Amino acid sequence: MIKKCSYLKIPNNRRYDLVALHDTGLGLSLVESCVELLNSEWPRSHSARLHSLKKSNDSLPVCFALVEVDVCTQSSSTVGHSRIIKVMGQPDSVLIESVVVPKCRRGEGIGRILMELTETCCKKLGFTTIYLSTKDKERFYSHLGYSVCNPVNTIGAQMQSNLGTDDNGVSYQDSLISNSCENTEVQKPLLTSVPTLSPSAPIPSHSAPISTPSAPTPPPSAPTPPVPPPPPPPTINQSPITFQVWMKKDV
Ligand SMILES: CC(C)(COP(=O)(O)OP(=O)(O)OC[C@H]1O[C@@H](n2cnc3c(N)ncnc32)[C@H](O)[C@@H]1OP(=O)(O)O)[C@@H](O)C(=O)NCCC(=O)NCCS
Repeated sequence: MIKKCSYLKIPNNRRYDLVALHDTGLGLSLVESCVELLNSEWPRSHSARLHSLKKSNDSLPVCFALVEVDVCTQSSSTVGHSRIIKVMGQPDSVLIESVVVPKCRRGEGIGRILMELTETCCKKLGFTTIYLSTKDKERFYSHLGYSVCNPVNTIGAQMQSNLGTDDNGVSYQDSLISNSCENTEVQKPLLTSVPTLSPSAPIPSHSAPISTPSAPTPPPSAPTPPVPPPPPPPTINQSPITFQVWMKKDV
């Protein structure tokens, strides 16, 4: 049974506890804050979210809340969520998903603490390889030591943890899509055709042929009209391309 993993950040007098939601000591009181945090990033019905969080158990999936504690005042708040599920056919491996930090707390190092504590818990549980999939956070994870790999099969594990119906009879099957890979969209730059510079238009000449001394005096030449600008290049707008990247790390 995982109780909790802790990390102390001395300069800020902060302690970070990663708590399994099925830890009856503290975890159950954190469920609602995790519903709120997850739904702020990936909105779903409250009851569907509650249902999947309450599936947390010792033999996986395990849902974790990251709790920030002020060691002086002992005040605390939930500043992260992660979940680990089984990888089918690979008993030594686990998949981390639904990694999220509140929008207002991003960029402070909390995502790193969340991942490192989740990895520590995975190691304590005896797992040696961690997988994840992402659509747009590849750089964040590669920064934390993950490298791109082939996909693994987690469908059976996700069905065990997600399938069901909520109070309104709505299927939880949507969570298979929304939770597996944290459904953010990759913002690829829109493809634009390379502007082709048209050759300079020939400057129309209004001058008369070169005259010889015997020729009559030519009429004064008219001012040269400005060269018209080239037409704007056509723009090819394409929908942003999204694709899922699988990554792994040995721990
Ligand atoms: C992804 C997420 C968890 C990162 O949390 P965070 O608290 O902002 O991350 P941190 O501040 O701990 O950053 C850790 C390191 O990763 C880097 N990093 C963070 N986001 C990054 C990104 N998008 N690209 C590249 N590097 C990134 C940071 O620079 C930092 O580097 P350092 O430790 O060397 O200083 C957070 O942005 C989030 O909740 N996003 C929305 C949900 C989501 O997309 N989850 C992942 C789905 S696969």
